[in-house]
Amino acid sequence: MLTIALPKGRIMEEAGELLVKAGLISEGVKEGRKLIIERPEDNLNFILAKPTDVPVYVHYGVADIGIVGKDVLLESEENLYELMDLKIALCRLSLCGQEGKNGGIWRQMPKVATKYPKMASSYFQEKGRQVEIIKLNGSVELAPILGLSDFIVDIVSTGQTLKENGLCELEKIADISSRLIANQATYHLKNGEIEEFIAKLEAVLP
Ligand code: PRP
Repeated sequence: MLTIALPKGRIMEEAGELLVKAGLISEGVKEGRKLIIERPEDNLNFILAKPTDVPVYVHYGVADIGIVGKDVLLESEENLYELMDLKIALCRLSLCGQEGKNGGIWRQMPKVATKYPKMASSYFQEKGRQVEIIKLNGSVELAPILGLSDFIVDIVSTGQTLKENGLCELEKIADISSRLIANQATYHLKNGEIEEFIAKLEAVLP
C-alpha cells in the first residue's frame, strides 16, 4: 500500500488521468471535500493537499510519494527524491509586465511581485539585475495593476490571466511540469512498490 499526496487544483485532474492510463487506479480522483481517499482495490491512499504542502507531507513521511509542480519543488526547502518528470501540467515561469508599459524599461531597483521568491532571486542574480522582491501568495497579477510592483514572476499556462489583466510575458525563466517525488527513507523501504509504480507510469509517458 502506497500513500500518495496529490495537489488540489489544476494538476490533480491530469494526474488522475495519467494514473488511470497507467492502470494504477481504476477511476480518476475527484476533488471534493474529502481530503483522504482510500482505494484499497488499487493499493493506494490519496492525500489531497494544497500544492505547496505536498513536499511537506512527503518529507515527513505521512505520504510515501507525491505529485507536484517543478515550480513548487524548486521553491521548497524539503529534502526529497525527484523520481520522474510526468510531463503533465506543462507551463512556464515567466517575467511579466504591463502591456505596452514596461516592456523595454528597466529602472533602478524595480519591484517584482511573485509567489516564487527563491527562483525569482536566483534568476535576477544570474542576470546581474538588482530588484526588490515582494512575496505574494496568489493573484500576483494584481500587483502591477495596482502599482505595488513593476513586474511579476509567475506561472503562465494558457496566458489567459495575463491577457484579461492587461499584462504580457516578457521573458521565459523556466519550463515547468509535474514531478513524482518520494520520501527518501520510504523510497528505500518500499523500493519494490515504488519502482513498480514508476515502471507503469513510464510505460505510458510520451
Ligand atoms: C496560476 C498563475 C497564474 C495563472 C496562469 O494561478 O499564478 O495566475 O494560474 O494560468 P493561465 O496562463 O492559464 O491563465 P492559480 O490559478 O494557481 O491561482 P493563484 O493566482 O491564486 O496562485
